[in-house]
Amino acid sequence: MTRKTLIIGNWKMNLTMHEASLYLHKLMEQLPVRRDVEVVVAPTMLTLQSLSLQIKRRIVKLAAQNCYWRDHGPYTGEVPASHLHGMVDYVIIGHSERRHIFMESDKDIRFKVQAALRNRLQPILCIGETAHERTLGETREVLQDQIVNGLANITAEEIDHVVIAYEPVWAIGSGEYAQPSDLAKVLKVIRQQITHLFGKEAAEAVRVVYGGSVSVDNASDYLAVAGLDGLLIGGASLDAYQFTEIVKKAHKE
Ligand code: PGA
Repeated sequence: MTRKTLIIGNWKMNLTMHEASLYLHKLMEQLPVRRDVEVVVAPTMLTLQSLSLQIKRRIVKLAAQNCYWRDHGPYTGEVPASHLHGMVDYVIIGHSERRHIFMESDKDIRFKVQAALRNRLQPILCIGETAHERTLGETREVLQDQIVNGLANITAEEIDHVVIAYEPVWAIGSGEYAQPSDLAKVLKVIRQQITHLFGKEAAEAVRVVYGGSVSVDNASDYLAVAGLDGLLIGGASLDAYQFTEIVKKAHKE
């Protein structure tokens, strides 16, 4: 089974409406239309609607950075997956900043993954160990737990639409990054866990990307890792030129 390479830019709480629109304009001008790489950017909630009218989805797609899991109701300040439907293709769920700053629980994350799938959005489920868990040698168990909890109640057919983003918390925005050579071990843990839950075919279909201090300089090393299907990029995605350079490195044709 061939899995299409996925390059995702997570803008976090950056770029105003005007800046975001200019960025997209630049990106669509610079990016070649190629079918071997899927390019996705995740702007702030506020900008999604107008950017969704501006984008050419053949070149770049949109992701939300979060969503709420109920479809409507008295939940002040929240944006449900049901309202994102039609505007974005993907939604990032369980980013470590959501888990740690906004105290999202495994249960919230599980419900959000289900809400995304119910509303025909592809969830990008973020998992990853903290520096402390890494020091204690608990990486494997942490990843297994986050997968089991995040994907509970999902069917083997739905798992095809899920992307797993391995983002070690200690590597996010820190300049420290996982050694590409260490990723093989982690990829094995992730696919073994998916096999355990959904079977071998599902484990081969699901895309797994890496995130954490990815830059123009180290992107090629990750893209060369066997079994890794792409990148989730924070800081380096804020500059359209750098992001384009990383996408270009992902093209195989
Ligand atoms: P970073 O962020 O590339 O700035 O480390 C990655 C992320 O948080 O998704």
